Amino acid sequence: MKVLAAPDEMLREALIIRASGRKLGFVPTMGALHEGHLALIREALQVCDVVAASIFVNPAQFNRVSDFDTYPRTIAEDIHMLEQVGCHLLFMPGVQEMYPIPSRTTIAVGLLDEVFEGRHRPGHFSGVALVVVKLFHLVQPTHAFFGSKDLQQVAVVRQIVQDFSLPVAVVECPTLRESDGLAMSSRNQLLSPEARPTAPFLYRALLSVKDGLKQNAHYIPHKEILELEAKGFKVEYLEVVHKDTFTKPGFEDNLFNGNYHVVVAAWLEEVRLIDNVSLIQ
Ligand code: PAF
Repeated sequence: MKVLAAPDEMLREALIIRASGRKLGFVPTMGALHEGHLALIREALQVCDVVAASIFVNPAQFNRVSDFDTYPRTIAEDIHMLEQVGCHLLFMPGVQEMYPIPSRTTIAVGLLDEVFEGRHRPGHFSGVALVVVKLFHLVQPTHAFFGSKDLQQVAVVRQIVQDFSLPVAVVECPTLRESDGLAMSSRNQLLSPEARPTAPFLYRALLSVKDGLKQNAHYIPHKEILELEAKGFKVEYLEVVHKDTFTKPGFEDNLFNGNYHVVVAAWLEEVRLIDNVSLIQ
């Protein structure tokens, strides 16, 4: 696997690959890789001729400095995992290389930045949008792979791809789960041994809401919120949303047409966890 840190070297390499007419798959990450990331790489290897990953903990998308500082960093293990899975290229720039001068351009993603994740993490999606546009420019992918655990991020990426007419196919891949149902996430590493067995109750709450909605389309998830809080979670939201717009369904909308997901965000100790399930699965 070729490892590049300099943005101009990455761009040069990408242009050579693209000039040869090969499909270039891209899996952007912030490192602390797990099976979920590897599944994205495997999917990219199926679809594309060359696969590039990036590892960059993007300061622009953290609304709390402490969150940026404590974000898990496991570079040596990450490189080993990428090599094992057969990734061809790794772009691993430093903060200085990506932001040599403070960035001033902001990408406002409208309503998506005001609701759910956007409301609870002000500025987060502008930071994601900025770095994704920079990365797409430097890596020049034909296809980019994102996990549907970060459902609102997928909606933001699809929106910017449309709005900037970026020639990239966005491929959404299913959430990978631990055997107890916990959605795989780099943040899981931050859970204490005491909190870890409690964390899967988030997924169980999503399934319970889904069951409730199957019985009654106007089901309100009070019971699940109370149960999560009793287990020590601080719930930020547990609701049904449209996967592209993150608007709530109207009274008459069919929740089971494939567009709606139950989404949840909750703190467990100092760790913020998010997850979602589709209402159609
Ligand atoms: O999902 C992530 O890991 C990050 O938000 C991304 C897409 C790599 C942008 O920094």
